[in-house]
Amino acid sequence: MIILIGNQKGGCGKSTLTLLLANYLTQAKKIKVHVIDMDYQQSIAQKYEKAKVLENEAAYEVIPAGLEHFPVIKELLRDTQNEVVLIDLPGKLDDDGLIPVFNAADLVICPFAYDEFSFTSTILFSVVLKKINERVGIVYVPNRMKANVRYETQLEVNDQLLKIGSLMVPIPDRIDFQRVNTFMTPLTVVPLIIPVFEPVYEKIQEIIKAYGQDHVTGG
Ligand SMILES: Nc1ncnc2c1ncn2[C@@H]1O[C@H](COP(=O)(O)OP(=O)(O)OP(=O)(O)O)[C@@H](O)[C@H]1O
Ligand SMILES: [Mg+2]
Repeated sequence: MIILIGNQKGGCGKSTLTLLLANYLTQAKKIKVHVIDMDYQQSIAQKYEKAKVLENEAAYEVIPAGLEHFPVIKELLRDTQNEVVLIDLPGKLDDDGLIPVFNAADLVICPFAYDEFSFTSTILFSVVLKKINERVGIVYVPNRMKANVRYETQLEVNDQLLKIGSLMVPIPDRIDFQRVNTFMTPLTVVPLIIPVFEPVYEKIQEIIKAYGQDHVTGG
């Protein structure tokens, strides 16, 4: 199954959440994961190559790829319904190469922040995504919440997003999130991500189960 991590907004935490979720699914849930890095800076792929030099064996592979490579990658990933393919998307919407990627998605995770620019990008991303793949579920993850800031628009933004998808508890802004890599999640952030990733894991289970039933009924 294919999970996208996307938002048109840059710097909202797409790559960080991709790594955290990849680590969580492989380490806590023993699910086989592949990460496809379609980010411009290929920040995950770079971390992966660096970490591979120092550590023994990676728990999952990171494949750097462009949007144009997706149709071929998708063919190669056929019959991996029980495995999870995580795609870290580039922060753009003006590329037709996104259409097959959006179409293939089983679930989309969308990190965002409670500020005006982030909200506009988040809605735009959601509208375009839903136009291409009406049935896909979107999980919104508020990220980098600062403890001492009052977010004026928070309730309003929550109302709007809940009309489109589901909303997770916020992830705080903390320096230890900047230490996550392809080999490890700092233990200090684990309690903060469990409430976000457990519901995501339940959704993954549901999707895998539905695939199984399709198989039985030949659908
Ligand atoms: N919860 C957090 N607390 C503190 N720092 C964070 C948190 N989440 C992400 N960051 C940091 O914010 C920066 C941007 O995050 P990240 O690279 O994951 O965003 P992105 O959406 O992938 O960005 P881009 O659009 O450039 O690809 C990184 O330096 C990352 O370490
Ligand atoms: Mg990124």
